[in-house]
Amino acid sequence: MSDETKPARSVSLRWRVLVILVLAAVVPTVITGVLAIVRARADVEREVERGALAHIRALGAALDGTLQDARRTVELAAATWADDTDDARKTQLLIKRLRRDVPIVSTLSILDADGALRYGDPVPKGQLDELFELARWAPNHNLTNPWRFRVVGPRTLEALKAAAGPEAAPKLDRAPTLVVCSCALSGDPVQDEEDLHATACAAYIVLLGAHGRGLAGYWRTPEVLRTDAGRSAVGLADNERFVSLIHLGAGVQERSAPARAPVAETVTYLD
Ligand SMILES: Cc1cc2nc3c(=O)[nH]c(=O)nc-3n(C[C@H](O)[C@H](O)[C@H](O)COP(=O)(O)O)c2cc1C
Repeated sequence: MSDETKPARSVSLRWRVLVILVLAAVVPTVITGVLAIVRARADVEREVERGALAHIRALGAALDGTLQDARRTVELAAATWADDTDDARKTQLLIKRLRRDVPIVSTLSILDADGALRYGDPVPKGQLDELFELARWAPNHNLTNPWRFRVVGPRTLEALKAAAGPEAAPKLDRAPTLVVCSCALSGDPVQDEEDLHATACAAYIVLLGAHGRGLAGYWRTPEVLRTDAGRSAVGLADNERFVSLIHLGAGVQERSAPARAPVAETVTYLD
């Protein structure tokens, strides 16, 4: 070994010792730090989870209370109604009060044992489907089945009311169930004329079927459904002709039908 290599060796040895000392000091600190961070993170996660669970439990308890209250209120109302089932006005008032006192319930209806609507909110889907099933039997030339029915939901109703404007919009709240009836046109003038008649028959079948089930019904043709905004609110395609906005619901009051022209004015027996 030469004399020149001696200092270089002692320098390298000093560096190695220094590096080992530094590592000995730093590594435990880093490990302890990492462990502390991991533990702290787990602690925070646990706390957040516990907090969320407590929050969910509190929400559940509040919801449970609200549901119990709603159930009690509805039971009381049902007991009150059972004492006087045939007074339509009193029933409507009761339902109105319930709607105000139990806002958590979105639809309130009184159905008979067969599930048919007697009072209340929208006509149940099952009953509407029965009406559309009947409408399938409307006469239609070449079995073109041209009628289209769209049951208006809450979002569509809002869009339709916005399109109708503030003056006409309240009229769209007159019945709890609205059905847009339209006719799919082919472009052939003769077929379209016949299909429009067939669609009117189908709409009337819905009204007759509703009447037969004790519901009130009404054929309306509000202006809004002749406008682009109204048509687009209910999704009418360009080839569809609007025919009727059928109003359906439980009857609120007895109304006598307006007088009609006598038969003699409209009927002729030909030779
Ligand atoms: C094609 C057609 C459109 C009608 N549009 C409306 C209407 O927009 N507003 C309205 O009050 N009545 C409208 N009616 C009339 C009513 O639906 C209803 O027939 C009329 O008020 C008489 O009542 P009744 O049929 O219950 O006896 C329309 C009827 C038909 C056939």
